[in-house]
Amino acid sequence: MAGRSTLWDISWVTFAQTSDPALAALVLKRYWPVASTGMQKILDAILAGDLAEVGSLPLPESYRGVTVHADEVEMFSGREHADKDPRESLHVDDVPTPELGPGEALVAVMASAINYNTVWTSIFEPMDTFGFLRRYGRTSPLAKRHDQPYHVVGSDLAGVVLRTGPGVNAWQPGDEVVAHCLNVELEHPDGHNDTMLDPEQRIWGFETNFGGLAELALVKSNQLMPKPRHLSWEEAACPGLVNSTAYRQLVSRNGAGMKQGDTVLVWGASGGLGSYATQFAVNGGATPVCVVSSPQKAEMCRKMGAELIIDRNAEGFRFWKDEHTQDPKEWKRFGARIRELTGGDDPDIVFEHPGRETFGASVFVAKRGGTVVTCASTSGFLHQYDNRYLWMNLKKIIGSHFANYREAWEANRLIAKGKIHPTLSGVYSLEDTGQAAFEVHKNKHQGKVGVLCLAPEEGLGVRDSQLREQHLSAINRFRGV
Ligand SMILES: NC(=O)c1ccc[n+]([C@@H]2O[C@H](COP(=O)([O-])OP(=O)(O)OC[C@H]3O[C@@H](n4cnc5c(N)ncnc54)[C@H](OP(=O)(O)O)[C@@H]3O)[C@@H](O)[C@H]2O)c1
Repeated sequence: MAGRSTLWDISWVTFAQTSDPALAALVLKRYWPVASTGMQKILDAILAGDLAEVGSLPLPESYRGVTVHADEVEMFSGREHADKDPRESLHVDDVPTPELGPGEALVAVMASAINYNTVWTSIFEPMDTFGFLRRYGRTSPLAKRHDQPYHVVGSDLAGVVLRTGPGVNAWQPGDEVVAHCLNVELEHPDGHNDTMLDPEQRIWGFETNFGGLAELALVKSNQLMPKPRHLSWEEAACPGLVNSTAYRQLVSRNGAGMKQGDTVLVWGASGGLGSYATQFAVNGGATPVCVVSSPQKAEMCRKMGAELIIDRNAEGFRFWKDEHTQDPKEWKRFGARIRELTGGDDPDIVFEHPGRETFGASVFVAKRGGTVVTCASTSGFLHQYDNRYLWMNLKKIIGSHFANYREAWEANRLIAKGKIHPTLSGVYSLEDTGQAAFEVHKNKHQGKVGVLCLAPEEGLGVRDSQLREQHLSAINRFRGV
């Protein structure tokens, strides 16, 4: 890993020599987090609004990023899932700045966010992500850059384009952007109706290297989208992955194709995905039935405009009698509770992601002809359900995964127009990313957990104060919960 910079040394000397605690704090806050002189100049230009400048500033040779290490993938062997601790496996390292290839962009990352995929990477489940990097690295000399003994993680960012590679015309250095996490090659015909069907489809920062939890990130230029102007860096960074995923899963014709009047059962309705699914249902004229696990989470759903809420803890739903046996009586009790809330309607759509623990119940409660749309299996991927309820009632199960560029763009556009709002609950520094991922792993959070990368403090980057003012209470709904 690269060493500390001259600026670092000067700052450290200043800090060490001063007897003024206020000055010491200022020096620490200002310079501690930024590892290299080159990066500091870039940050200064961005903070000063000299965006036209940034393309001509030299790139630093290295940058700080949150990594896992290939020689540590066995560190949690023998531990239970719940005891594997992201704080032990996530590091902040100086890593070399990757070379820029055709169709790519290097972005100065002002803020990023924790996604569950970073939790999976950090606990090396269901497998370590170095296998993804090795496989990708075998596909081309350019992709070989990703195959490193460290993996810079993170699948969200808000920041400023620093450089674009050959063939990039739609974006320029200085553009303020967010990035979605679909990385596709599009050399096969299969992906040309729907880019998610490309056989070389990967999730950036999970199945590729140089992700967003870092001071710099390498993306394909077709991951870039305009940063919503009324949001701060950390607010703009947090919706990307989950908002796009929830859009495809629930709204898009590639997913459940929700329409006005639908009843939508949303699991984890105040969590990352669920907090956007709930908003899409409310905004799109559907009726969400929100499932959560505490009164505080129920309150967040009410604040998003949902009225029908099930607290699965308070109501004691247990869909499994033991590790191997489900309890159909509990499915029926759950279905009856939904009907009680809706006045007799069953869900047209079940928005699924908890997986094994809930899937049997989800298939049971979906309406005749209804759809269970799933994008994940947080509690286990070997699902079990009674197929009689599926076929006899003509229900459908749809698999959904992230979103294509069009869907991600539409989802981001709704944020930019102030129709869907970020659900940022807390913000951590880059150094504390392990703690942030730990909170998500332990399901202690609500909505999204943000991470400041280059941004020295929260609240920066707002360009449209008028639009912000109109939506301020909605933007801040999740703060501090
Ligand atoms: N395929 C994709 O493109 C894609 C994209 C994004 C996320 N994902 C996956 O989707 C899953 C959820 O992601 P997220 O960002 O929404 O995570 P999250 O912020 O942790 O939210 C998930 C919510 O699910 C609920 N939940 C967790 N375990 C549950 C269980 N056993 N039974 C019922 N509810 C449970 C919890 O809410 P309550 O405790 O309040 O009920 C939790 O807040 C993760 O596995 C993630 O990897 C997949």
